[in-house]
Amino acid sequence: MSATNLRVLLTGSRGQLGQALQACVPAGVELIALGRDQLDLADADACRRSVRELRPDWVLNAGAYTAVDRAEGEAELAHAVNAGAPAAFAAALAEAGGRLLQVSTDFVFDGSQGSPYRPEQPLAPLGVYGASKAEGERLTAAALPAERLCLLRTSWVYGPVGHNFCLTMLRLHAQRAASGEALSVVADQVGCPTATHTLAAACWAAIARGLNGTLHWSDAGAASWYDFAVAIGELGEAAGLLQAAAAVKPITTAAYPTPARRPAYSLLECGTSREALGLEGQHWRRTLAEVLARLPAPDASR
Ligand SMILES: NC(=O)c1ccc[n+]([C@@H]2O[C@H](COP(=O)([O-])OP(=O)(O)OC[C@H]3O[C@@H](n4cnc5c(N)ncnc54)[C@H](OP(=O)(O)O)[C@@H]3O)[C@@H](O)[C@H]2O)c1
Repeated sequence: MSATNLRVLLTGSRGQLGQALQACVPAGVELIALGRDQLDLADADACRRSVRELRPDWVLNAGAYTAVDRAEGEAELAHAVNAGAPAAFAAALAEAGGRLLQVSTDFVFDGSQGSPYRPEQPLAPLGVYGASKAEGERLTAAALPAERLCLLRTSWVYGPVGHNFCLTMLRLHAQRAASGEALSVVADQVGCPTATHTLAAACWAAIARGLNGTLHWSDAGAASWYDFAVAIGELGEAAGLLQAAAAVKPITTAAYPTPARRPAYSLLECGTSREALGLEGQHWRRTLAEVLARLPAPDASR
């Protein structure tokens, strides 16, 4: 893929998606990657200034407040980062020229319809995090002409770095297999895991193709968190990352209360977006194996 002479301002450069994006920058992209210490997304003036001063062709907003449960008690900060920052980028881009790729989430849906969500469906977030991301979508659409805005929703993001379910489960599998205890994991929330390397490729394809509108990108298939945890154990063992996988016990959401409510079924319908992006979706078990292959083998001396 190539993108001729595009200047791209990337936010959230040290997040899991931010790092994956930097690992596969297409030829022809001049990347300005900013972490929290260079640009505070809670500071809308600083976001506007960065666009005026750096004059990017695209802002790729991969930075976000992603702590779903903590957001319930930090609504103001979550809204500043997830709605205020994209709104500020959009307003500044509307004046200065340039486009926005805003990354969003399956948590903008309430998960009650029981079939995959299409990009154009109305939003109904359940918690503060989802509401703040939905507000980011609404405000960017209000500030920027439609042909200069691309909203890309994704789900259950994980990769070889950062904080995510896969890395947590690998650690817990190792601990519980050693102690003989089972792992209890929620089996009645269904979605689709998405590896950061496929999501990064989708973001770069959207930019290279100059896409606009709302896109959905997740890996292919469907899973519950329980299915994902079982696969992490099986494939982690096969990859030599675990001596043994722990037993995994399916439990209900009601048995594992969390501060934020989560959608029960938040699968994203990705067919039309995959065509627009020119990318095929790979089954999530396959991309999971690819992520696990990127992890270092455990130190046998410890
Ligand atoms: N993770 C998921 O399961 C998931 C699911 C669906 C959609 N998404 C969306 O995918 C995108 C990428 O998420 P991710 O998984 O890569 O998240 P992540 O690993 O949590 O990374 C988010 C990045 O944003 C940065 N950030 C947070 N607050 C900031 C602030 N005030 N100023 C500057 N930077 C700030 C963080 O900085 P620090 O590194 O300094 O904390 C971090 O580098 C986000 O838009 C997210 O909403 C994620």
